[in-house]
Amino acid sequence: MSATNDKETARPALTEPFEIGGVPIANRVLLAPLAGIGNWFVRLQAKRHGAGLAVSEMVSSFALHYRNERTLRELMRIHPDEHPVSMQLFGHDPEVMRSGAAIAAEAGADLIDINMGCPVPKVRKTGAGAQLLRDPDLALALARGAAEGSGLPVTVKLRSGIEAGDRSGFELAIRLVEEAGVAAIGFHPRVATKGHRGKPDYALARELVERIGVPVIVSGGLSSAEAARRAYEESGADAVMIARGSFGNPWVFEELTGRRTEPPSREEMVAEWLWVTDRAEEHLGAERAQRYLRKFHPWYVERLEAPKEVADELQRSADLARARELIAALGSPVQVA
Ligand SMILES: Cc1cc2nc3c(=O)[nH]c(=O)nc-3n(C[C@H](O)[C@H](O)[C@H](O)COP(=O)(O)O)c2cc1C
Repeated sequence: MSATNDKETARPALTEPFEIGGVPIANRVLLAPLAGIGNWFVRLQAKRHGAGLAVSEMVSSFALHYRNERTLRELMRIHPDEHPVSMQLFGHDPEVMRSGAAIAAEAGADLIDINMGCPVPKVRKTGAGAQLLRDPDLALALARGAAEGSGLPVTVKLRSGIEAGDRSGFELAIRLVEEAGVAAIGFHPRVATKGHRGKPDYALARELVERIGVPVIVSGGLSSAEAARRAYEESGADAVMIARGSFGNPWVFEELTGRRTEPPSREEMVAEWLWVTDRAEEHLGAERAQRYLRKFHPWYVERLEAPKEVADELQRSADLARARELIAALGSPVQVA
């Protein structure tokens, strides 16, 4: 057996626990931060299906600092069964980050993650997200501010660079660990200008793993359990972070943690969809929930191969009770725990 094979066989399985800054994480399969999606019930869903940790959608440190009511009530909502949970903040002002992180800690976060990867121009224009790769000193000050304000371990999720050939994210990750005491790096080895396209550079993630002494969590291209297992091996990372691969497919966490080998039945899918619908109503009330769920419905429509008329009506209808009827008619749901 070659040395490489020896190293690979010695690697921990995805089911093995690890720690981030002293916080125990039950396994190495995480839910990625997802803006506009990763609220408490999406995180809880991932947890129910086996994720070791779920990271919140990105939350503005300014909205927290100024105690924006909706941000506190909705984005900072944490379910008691979610822990450990990581709240992801974004921003560009260390003092504001310090106070935002303190508020996230008060709300019950176990970890604070800082977004240094968002490629969206609206965010980058403010100096936040991936733009921080251009200002490493500010990035370090933000990480220190978050740690001081919250008293919690701080992690950072970032891209490998801004444009093709740029490795500024790789370099920044090293400084964040060595100079600001960051407890783990979520590494998305695609440059910001690539958005979510193309194959991530898992070899670069491997280089980072060899360079830093804290966990590296690889993100990007993890569209299925098989893709996630491959990326885990190729990158040598300590954990994987499932993003788009979890849309309408929380069972991916069961597959990766060895709880399931068979795909879900129609009944399970319908039951899960209704569970999500119920939680959305609990979170937002019936009227806002049905609008909010327009983002979620297509994922389940596709998995269940629901007729086009049903898909269209779910997008058009403002009536949550009608949405429930349409969903339930697609199969007899089983009981969801
Ligand atoms: C709709 C959507 C929202 C996202 N929101 C965030 C976010 O709030 N914070 C963040 O760090 N990354 C965010 N990402 C990036 C993902 O966490 C992940 O790194 C990216 O989708 C690559 O993984 P994938 O190719 O397996 O989907 C988002 C991605 C998508 C598709």
